[in-house]
Amino acid sequence: MTDFPEPAALASHGPARVVALCNQKGGVGKTTTTVNLAASLAEYGRKVLVVDFDPQGAASAGLGVNPNEAELTIYDLLMRSSVKAEDVIVATNVDNLDLMPANIDLSAAEVQLVGEVARESTLDRALRGVEDDYDVILIDCQPSLGLLTVNALVAAHGVIIPLASEYFAMRGVALLVETITKVQDRLNPRLTIDAIIPTLYDGRTLHSQEVVESVRHGFGDKVTETMIHRTVKFPDASVAAEPITTFAPQHAGAHAYRQLARELVARGVAA
Ligand SMILES: Nc1ncnc2c1ncn2[C@@H]1O[C@H](COP(=O)(O)OP(=O)(O)O)[C@@H](O)[C@H]1O
Ligand SMILES: [Mg+2]
Repeated sequence: MTDFPEPAALASHGPARVVALCNQKGGVGKTTTTVNLAASLAEYGRKVLVVDFDPQGAASAGLGVNPNEAELTIYDLLMRSSVKAEDVIVATNVDNLDLMPANIDLSAAEVQLVGEVARESTLDRALRGVEDDYDVILIDCQPSLGLLTVNALVAAHGVIIPLASEYFAMRGVALLVETITKVQDRLNPRLTIDAIIPTLYDGRTLHSQEVVESVRHGFGDKVTETMIHRTVKFPDASVAAEPITTFAPQHAGAHAYRQLARELVARGVAA
């Protein structure tokens, strides 16, 4: 395993690289990776914005923000032209880490946006006002390939795909890659697949190892060296509404996300 170096301090901040965490399958670690990668990059002095783009609001809750008490959410930013990105952003308990919260209101946006002009680029336009304030913007997508996810792909420079190390993990990935390719061709030529991250890895089982082997065979060096092992500390941290890096800073799970942050910086896909 490569020992990825600690990222050099940044002399100045922005403009942000925008990365969408996507997989239309639920329960694969999108939100866990968004929250903990964001917290790890923030620990390394990066200014990070998490955009909660799932009406379930799990990223918001995981960062200690009750999205049902938020005065404004990403829904307001998408649907009301008088609302600016900075009006929606809230600070979290983690230094350098801000959040745009989401709640169930966002599910209405999917329907309401359909009638809009340039409906696929609504999020892209909405984020432009704050891109200069951050080094990295991570978008936590909902488990679907619908219009909200397409908006995330249009706003993004790169895509990170968390992939559970379980049988059938690859099922659906072809469709995801096809969607990414369509968005590249038609709407966002700069979009690239930055990384595929093996999550929920259980080294004690042969099948976890076999799945990761076949994912590496299929996707080569897109797959990160860093794998995220299965541990109950992750659900524990989300119950505590904290990233694992502050909930259990010395736990192997916290070290894994710090290593992922270092690897992604070394690959040039995070600041
Ligand atoms: N590495 C892990 N080990 C154990 N549980 C995990 C791990 N990653 C995520 N989980 C748990 O699995 C569930 C789904 O993860 P989540 O990140 O919410 O997935 P998604 O956003 O893709 O639906 C959550 O309860 C989360 O706490
Ligand atoms: Mg999620």
